[in-house]
Amino acid sequence: MTNEKPEKKKKVREDEIASPKGMRDLIGKEYHAYQGFFEKAADIAGYYGFRPIETPILEREPVFTSSLGVGTDIRDKEMYTLKTKGGDHLVMRPEGTAGIMRAYIEHGMQAQPQPVMFYNYGPYFRHENPQRGRLREFRQFGLEILGTPKSIADALAIRTMTLILDEAGFKNLTVEINSIGDKTCRGGYLRALTGYYKKHLSELCPDCHERLKTNPLRLLDCKNAKCQDLKIDAPTSISSLCNDCRHHFKEVIEYLEAMNISYRINNNLVRGLDYYTRTVFEVVDNTVETSESGEVVPPLSLGGGGRYDYLAKALGSKKDIPAVGCAIGVDRVIMSPTHKTLDPRILKKPKVYFIQLGSEAKLKSFTIIETLRKAHVPIAQSLSKDGLAQQLAIAERSGAPYTIIFGQKEALDDTVIARNMETRSQETVKLSDLPDFVKHLKDELR
Ligand code: HAM
Repeated sequence: MTNEKPEKKKKVREDEIASPKGMRDLIGKEYHAYQGFFEKAADIAGYYGFRPIETPILEREPVFTSSLGVGTDIRDKEMYTLKTKGGDHLVMRPEGTAGIMRAYIEHGMQAQPQPVMFYNYGPYFRHENPQRGRLREFRQFGLEILGTPKSIADALAIRTMTLILDEAGFKNLTVEINSIGDKTCRGGYLRALTGYYKKHLSELCPDCHERLKTNPLRLLDCKNAKCQDLKIDAPTSISSLCNDCRHHFKEVIEYLEAMNISYRINNNLVRGLDYYTRTVFEVVDNTVETSESGEVVPPLSLGGGGRYDYLAKALGSKKDIPAVGCAIGVDRVIMSPTHKTLDPRILKKPKVYFIQLGSEAKLKSFTIIETLRKAHVPIAQSLSKDGLAQQLAIAERSGAPYTIIFGQKEALDDTVIARNMETRSQETVKLSDLPDFVKHLKDELR
């Protein structure tokens, strides 16, 4: 025996273990709303040829540092980076596209019939200031079409995304769209853009001074009031497009028109990630939302994406892999007043409430519950409760049309009492007849 006193445990304060800022628990109805949205989105994506993929939440740092672009907030300010005990530098994925392209290259998917089409769903992490529509942990439903330069792939990504949003209640959407060119024409455009902004240096906000040096396209994305007027006369990327890019963009627009997708060409749309070429787009809900004080709140982009023909080379591929994709911000969808909740398949209204009384019955309860599960009859129960009145009250509240009562006597006789909650009529059913009875019940309650 040692004389050492056991270390006194320090009491943890509530705020020390509260969920981290900008991250939250999903419980009950809200959990089911996310699950229902994901099921519907996956279902639609499946019809349009997308297959599921899940990549790790942690990726090696260069997956993002070499692809997202210097001068983008996501790469420069918002990544959660960590060094493991083994010395690896890993990043909590801030977005999904780079990881999926990494997986495509790593698994040699170039050898498969092209394009390879993926949908994916999961959490992403950006160290942003939490505010309306901005969380630090958020969920995206993404669509990626890898291995084709064809404009119909751009249209397919946009179409699938808007269909998913439509099913989730968004009937009044606009696709904001732009083309930012490719390596043939982008250089000329950037020269025109920097030339224009250099003439207005004194009117620029400090961030735009920096953008002019590191990432001039981002000048068009500046939110500072000071820089808004300058955008009006800034040269547009569309006016600098080479013939191939112009033709590609024209085709994408033609597809949107043919599908009756409402769109608006937005010359200032450049997106917050650097890997884009040609088409870039964002989807906004036109339903006017007002704050509690009655002010109109500006619409948030529910999803966005674009073409990323050079991303593969940035990730070490010898050849370019033309690709296009988009991602829906699922939290923004669920939190929007326009959103229509979609129930997941797993959420079933209980048809039978199971009541047990006494220790003998408790012991045999599992057999009965399993019979009901095997017959696919959704049930509810409160095995930890003992009294009849208490359990009947819960059964009543649950709205289940039938109750199965399994008391001490029934446990000895190998029977159950089935009670119709509406008519209050009861009948005794032998345990051996329960599967048949349940089958008949299922048909009756269908
Ligand atoms: P993104 O525009 O950065 O694109 O994100 C897509 C959507 O995710 C946004 O439109 C928004 O709805 C949602 N979102 C972004 N950040 C947050 C946040 N902090 N909190 C809540 N929601 C957020 C991408 O991530 C690209 N990987 C999309 C893509 C796929 N491009 C090509 N393929």
